[in-house]
Amino acid sequence: MNAKLNCGVIGLGRLGYRHALSIVKNKDANLVAVADPMDEALLRAKEDFGSIVTSNDYTDILERKDIEAVVIATPTKTHYDILVNAISAGKKIFVEKPITFTVDEAKKICNLVKEKNTYLQVGFMRRFDPGHVEAKKLIESGEIGEPIYVHDCQRDPCGPPKHYVPESGGLFVDMGIHDLDCVRWLMGSEIVRIYAQGAVLKHNYLKDMNDVDQGQMLLTFANGTLGDIEVSRNANDIYDVRTEIIGTKGSVFIGQCQNKPFITVGSDGMTYNLPHWCLDRFEQAYEKEIAAFIDSVRNEKESPVNAYDGMVALNLAKSARDSFEKSKAIDIQL
Ligand SMILES: NC(=O)c1ccc[n+]([C@@H]2O[C@H](COP(=O)([O-])OP(=O)(O)OC[C@H]3O[C@@H](n4cnc5c(N)ncnc54)[C@H](O)[C@@H]3O)[C@@H](O)[C@H]2O)c1
Repeated sequence: MNAKLNCGVIGLGRLGYRHALSIVKNKDANLVAVADPMDEALLRAKEDFGSIVTSNDYTDILERKDIEAVVIATPTKTHYDILVNAISAGKKIFVEKPITFTVDEAKKICNLVKEKNTYLQVGFMRRFDPGHVEAKKLIESGEIGEPIYVHDCQRDPCGPPKHYVPESGGLFVDMGIHDLDCVRWLMGSEIVRIYAQGAVLKHNYLKDMNDVDQGQMLLTFANGTLGDIEVSRNANDIYDVRTEIIGTKGSVFIGQCQNKPFITVGSDGMTYNLPHWCLDRFEQAYEKEIAAFIDSVRNEKESPVNAYDGMVALNLAKSARDSFEKSKAIDIQL
């Protein structure tokens, strides 16, 4: 067992701040330094996390020999350059999803990770959510027989901020990537075919931005099983994630409100209090994925969500977008 892990966080926005908090709370790690071009983000970190080093330039973190591990939570377009520099600086890496902006970049990162034998973990936090973890265990135990169908949905409470849309990769990449990784992991089989549809049903500003607020994906898995995913920005002020896996002997449902005959949300007559945002719904999962990162690096374990997983999920999400644009099913190629 190694000493406490010295960590740096690059990018202190919504996710970076949350990850910095998880590091501070973890007894096996020290938050040594943070970097962000925005002074107010650094000021907030200094106020909240005490004696840490702050910088506007992330390369200051990479140059420090006493920092073994970095969390990268910057806008996706910046991931590739920062990853290349972090890998060549010999850091152990946690990077937010999507691993990179393009599949070609993701392939290059996979090759670099292999070449340099680097630790890299991608931020698919659902794999650490207690409900999803239990479901995975149940499936692997054989209790529901063979998993033969998966039905999954993810609904955001509102439309994305306008400035975020061009850098998000669009609905299928920004949101759908989580669902695609999740069902691939739970079903234990690769997705080989996707047919996707999309539309703007509520947030009309997305029409001028080449994006949609509602998407559907029909999936075929390599072992012949099937699935479907709904992604949406239209959940009326709640954040709603559900997954159902149907097996040959039983089924497992994650995230359902099973104790009421029906519920209403997002109106005055609301009958159920659901989370409003991913940071609430997956609070434990975010903390557990960083705990797994710290534990794996300290104890030289394999990454539970590696660069290949990041690349596969990005390729699936881009293929879904491609299917939507071409109105035809796409056979997945890597
Ligand atoms: N896992 C999830 O549930 C989830 C949810 C939202 C976002 N994300 C991902 O997290 C990443 C960040 O998203 P966010 O919502 O936190 O964005 P954000 O805009 O809130 O934060 C990004 C931060 O990075 C900083 N930054 C920009 N360039 C930088 C650089 N070169 N060096 C250091 N800092 C830099 C910005 O100033 C900002 O503070 C994206 O890749 C996004 O896809 C993941």
